Amino acid sequence: MENPGNFRLVFGISFLYCLLNLSLGFNPVDNYLIDCGSFKNRSIGVREFVADNTNTSSHRLSTPEHIFANSSSNSISLYNDSTLYQTARIFNGPSHYSFSIKEQGRHWIRLHFFPFLFQKYDMSNAKFSVSAQNFSLTREPQSGNVSVVKEYCLNITSNNLILSFIPDSKSFAFINALEVLSIPENVVPEEAKTVDRKGDKKSLRELALETVARVDMGNSTVLPQNDTSWRLWVSDDSYLIDKNLGSFVSNVSAVNFTGGLVTEDVAPASVYGTATRFNLDDPNLNANLTWSFDVDPGFDYAVRLHFCDIVSNSTQQGVFLEIFINTHSAGHLDLGSQTSHVLGVPYFMDVYTRASASRKLNVSVGSSNIVNFPSVILNGLEIMKINNDKGRLDVSEVVPSRTSKTTLIVGVAVGLFVFVILAALVFLFCRRRRRRKPDSGGGGQNIPMTGSVYSNGTARFPFIELVEATDNFSENLVIGVGGFGKVYKGVLRDETEVAVKRGTPQSSQGLVEFRTEIEMLSQFRHRHLVSLIGYCDENNEMIIIYEYMENGTLKNHLYGSSHPGLSWRQRLEISVGSVKGLHYLHTGSTKSIIHRDVKSANILLDKNFMAKVADFGLSKTGPDIDRTHVSTAVKGSFGYLDPEYLTTQKLTEKSDVYSFGVVLLEVLCGRPVIDPSLPREKVNLVDWALKSHRNGRLEDIVDPSVVGEIKRESLNKFWEITEKCLGKYGIYRPSMGDVLWNLESALQLQGNETKTNHNGELSSEISHGGHSETSLEFSRTGSVGELAGVSMTTVFAQLLSEQEQMRR
Ligand SMILES: *[C@@H]1O[C@H](CO)[C@@H](O)[C@H](O)[C@H]1NC(C)=O
Ligand SMILES: *[C@@H]1O[C@H](CO)[C@@H](O)[C@H](O)[C@H]1NC(C)=O
Ligand SMILES: *[C@@H]1O[C@H](CO)[C@@H](O)[C@H](O)[C@H]1NC(C)=O
Ligand SMILES: *[C@@H]1O[C@H](CO)[C@@H](O)[C@H](O)[C@H]1NC(C)=O
Ligand SMILES: *[C@@H]1O[C@H](CO)[C@@H](O)[C@H](O)[C@H]1NC(C)=O
Ligand SMILES: *[C@@H]1O[C@H](CO)[C@@H](O)[C@H](O)[C@H]1NC(C)=O
Ligand SMILES: *[C@@H]1O[C@H](CO)[C@@H](O)[C@H](O)[C@H]1NC(C)=O
Ligand SMILES: *[C@@H]1O[C@H](CO)[C@@H](O)[C@H](O)[C@H]1NC(C)=O
Ligand SMILES: *[C@@H]1O[C@H](CO)[C@@H](O)[C@H](O)[C@H]1NC(C)=O
Ligand SMILES: *[C@@H]1O[C@H](CO)[C@@H](O)[C@H](O)[C@H]1NC(C)=O
Ligand SMILES: *[C@@H]1O[C@H](CO)[C@@H](O)[C@H](O)[C@H]1NC(C)=O
Ligand SMILES: *[C@@H]1O[C@H](CO)[C@@H](O)[C@H](O)[C@H]1NC(C)=O
Repeated sequence: MENPGNFRLVFGISFLYCLLNLSLGFNPVDNYLIDCGSFKNRSIGVREFVADNTNTSSHRLSTPEHIFANSSSNSISLYNDSTLYQTARIFNGPSHYSFSIKEQGRHWIRLHFFPFLFQKYDMSNAKFSVSAQNFSLTREPQSGNVSVVKEYCLNITSNNLILSFIPDSKSFAFINALEVLSIPENVVPEEAKTVDRKGDKKSLRELALETVARVDMGNSTVLPQNDTSWRLWVSDDSYLIDKNLGSFVSNVSAVNFTGGLVTEDVAPASVYGTATRFNLDDPNLNANLTWSFDVDPGFDYAVRLHFCDIVSNSTQQGVFLEIFINTHSAGHLDLGSQTSHVLGVPYFMDVYTRASASRKLNVSVGSSNIVNFPSVILNGLEIMKINNDKGRLDVSEVVPSRTSKTTLIVGVAVGLFVFVILAALVFLFCRRRRRRKPDSGGGGQNIPMTGSVYSNGTARFPFIELVEATDNFSENLVIGVGGFGKVYKGVLRDETEVAVKRGTPQSSQGLVEFRTEIEMLSQFRHRHLVSLIGYCDENNEMIIIYEYMENGTLKNHLYGSSHPGLSWRQRLEISVGSVKGLHYLHTGSTKSIIHRDVKSANILLDKNFMAKVADFGLSKTGPDIDRTHVSTAVKGSFGYLDPEYLTTQKLTEKSDVYSFGVVLLEVLCGRPVIDPSLPREKVNLVDWALKSHRNGRLEDIVDPSVVGEIKRESLNKFWEITEKCLGKYGIYRPSMGDVLWNLESALQLQGNETKTNHNGELSSEISHGGHSETSLEFSRTGSVGELAGVSMTTVFAQLLSEQEQMRR
């Protein structure tokens, strides 16, 4: 059977030649090289594979019956005269190699198979499995008359490694050569970030890995003798999907390992020194370079991407790109900021993902929408399969009955669905035909409309169902109060938890805002925008039903009752999430949407502290392309309002950027925007923060509960972008895309240190307390409370006149 996941060495690229005397940097502590079935030692390059006919002090073999096979006595000609593959050991029963391990930790295990015919044994038909420790590595690895090298990586935490060959009944097992080597640090990922659920990390420390692909970009192959761990890097051209988009570059002398964290053990200079980049002659720059690999569905895969800027002439150019695994973004990369802006310094990045049912894993790099010149490059790529929860890496017994069952259920469900739809269509068709007969002139508009004003299919709930869901709008279920009325926690008939916002007739939120919000929300679906579940406009009610957000508002976690709860890392992740939501609003459709009420009380957190932007009652469709702004009466929340908008009343996306800058300050400082209880110079957060920075006292404003954990570089990056957002003039403020990119880089600069116990305890506290203390604040008018009774219009008037005076 052809196993697509195999990492296969065909003889054409065999490493058994090139007997170069290279002095390599790494000398493995454990270094077993065995030429199985051979009576004599064989030198392959600088390495000696020893004969395995005897037990040695450090490795032994127990087997009931074994046979030494060599191919020189029969007529099968080998493709190449590889001495290593001329012999094999055949096992007629369960057999175990045992290696004593001097250095615990990660080890390579390489199994070499080259089937040939020996006496009655046709190895290409052998049926057997190989396992090590408690991991099942492979079943029937051989196929055809080609050589196969299977490479695994196991963390061996005992003094002994046992490698077992178990033949199926009536069959036999065989092996031509094997290698067990210690691995230097950093060569194999210890943990990786998932691309599916943002920020999730998976530790790979105790898992077994199998190399699926190890690719050197730039259409070049790097042979094992040029790699300190004797790894083979195959050329990328057969994996590259759209070859016209890529061009191959080579500049090995540009690679600079000094001072970097990446050593030559991670990947040799000949890997970092070649790359595939966007073809500069191709004007179609808005594209992705994609490499495609075969994988087995149901398994997780770790992907390591290697980058090295060997193309830029100056640090002014740099490499900026966005990485995609299948269709998921794995983030933006500013290579310069990762390598202290020294050209030629290597960098790598680890992510992991679940293989999709398509059996393909596509790795793409594309231009980051932040910069407008092509600087997309990839130097190397490693894809490793991770053992499943049954401890298996082989696929043969994996196809779980569960999958086929689900497929069956899905199949049946789809079938039923299609049937129901068809039946309904037939029914409607017949009905229309029947109606038409007596009334042949009448139109076909007989399908009754429910009277919904919103044509896009948003669910319209009967009032009675909401009465049920909220226990007749019980005071006990109130999770937020604002000028428009109250927000209740509710449970729908299908047990979905929801937040129910009920406007009261005397509320300040009118029908217009009610409709705006439903229209806006039903247009947009995004993981960082709070989703609309439905609405109710029966009996003049104005009720909107949202998804329930367990952890309430960001505001509450920054300085409300849940404070201090968020680590710096969490704050960054929440900021990144929010800006993604806003970026989507601004750019996600043909006409951009301006939120107009960005504030920490309108950023909600779900049970995993994922941020979602809420409250679209004030949102406006942005300017048309030929105009640069929308003129509108000033609305928004005090403290967050763009000063330019206040004076000019011209609304642009940059007004949201300003408000978001204020939110970033709240995130950094953990205090309200306006706090009248503080000394005069500190009352206004924005003024205080900007002034403190000017006086070189940035540290003073950082929330004391996170000040200890912030890395300097992360803080600097964060401040840099916050300050830009707060720029006086909109045109000098960054776009949401820029903000996103910079925040992601602040997150990367913070590094991925494991969370302290302290933080772990805190966050579990929050998730327990969250339910009772959650206060959803959907209202713009709710923020008037922050001003302790000052009338909002008065403040606006004051501000306007102050600005007038300043201009005079
Ligand atoms: C093979 O090499 C091993 C270790 O280098 C040595 O101990 C052994 O004697 C050699 N065997 C033969 C047959 O040369
Ligand atoms: C190696 O030693 C084991 C016992 O540790 C023994 O069962 C086995 O027969 C020996 N193998 C060879 C090839 O001498
Ligand atoms: C192959 O096996 C035969 C006997 O089985 C032996 O005489 C010969 O030396 C072996 N050849 C090699 C290359 O090991
Ligand atoms: C292996 O043998 C084939 C056929 O004899 C030959 O074309 C090929 O060049 C050889 N490969 C190497 C790496 O020498
Ligand atoms: C294998 O699993 C058994 C029981 O599940 C455990 O006792 C043993 O320590 C494991 N061996 C290794 C090498 O992990
Ligand atoms: C391998 O080669 C031998 C000799 O050419 C042939 O008889 C056998 O069928 C081949 N096996 C496979 C699986 O191709
Ligand atoms: C190997 O496993 C041990 C114990 O689980 C762990 O402490 C260690 O960090 C692991 N080593 C590597 C290189 O992942
Ligand atoms: C890639 O390398 C292969 C083999 O070295 C060569 O045949 C092919 O033309 C190269 N492709 C390009 C686009 O240079
Ligand atoms: C190995 O790398 C060196 C430079 O690092 C290069 O000169 C040499 O050609 C490479 N050899 C092979 C076989 O790739
Ligand atoms: C290599 O990098 C180090 C710092 O990482 C730098 O000091 C040095 O100048 C670089 N060398 C070259 C040739 O660029
Ligand atoms: C690049 O690939 C990603 C993921 O498939 C996709 O979302 C994006 O639109 C692609 N970019 C371009 C310019 O095609
Ligand atoms: C870098 O310099 C080389 C030669 O000096 C030149 O050919 C190339 O166009 C330059 N590249 C860029 C991106 O400026």
